[in-house]
Amino acid sequence: MFLVLFYFSVFAKESVPTVQGFIGDSVVLQCHSGNVQLKSITAHWRYNDIKNVYDIEDGKVSIVDQDRVYRDRTEMFPAEYMKGNFSLKLGKLQNTDGGSYCCFIANIAYINKQQCTQLQIKGVMKWLP
Ligand SMILES: *[C@@H]1O[C@H](CO)[C@@H](O)[C@H](O)[C@H]1NC(C)=O
Repeated sequence: MFLVLFYFSVFAKESVPTVQGFIGDSVVLQCHSGNVQLKSITAHWRYNDIKNVYDIEDGKVSIVDQDRVYRDRTEMFPAEYMKGNFSLKLGKLQNTDGGSYCCFIANIAYINKQQCTQLQIKGVMKWLP
């Protein structure tokens, strides 16, 4: 078990996709179950393995335990759940949002169904006149 986890953590670090976001803008962080048949619509998004970003329990949003820094700026796409798409939209980006966002889809046996994205925050987007 240790070896499996060790292998996974090394593998995961190499394969984590990076997404760039601008302060005040929004990003969509991807999470997909692939072709696996889902037994229930349950998924969890976590920031740096600690903060609760978003929970879906049996198809319903559960923001009771959501960390307050994400209040009113997260959104998921219920019409996509049945397709196994648990992508998360994070808006009003702040400097402090940079870090690792992982989604965990319940009822999927494979440990590698944890999907992480590294978010990099850039300055304010510059608009051309
Ligand atoms: C999942 O849904 C989001 C929001 O509609 C979309 O941007 C994204 O492309 C979808 N991903 C897949 C793999 O279908």
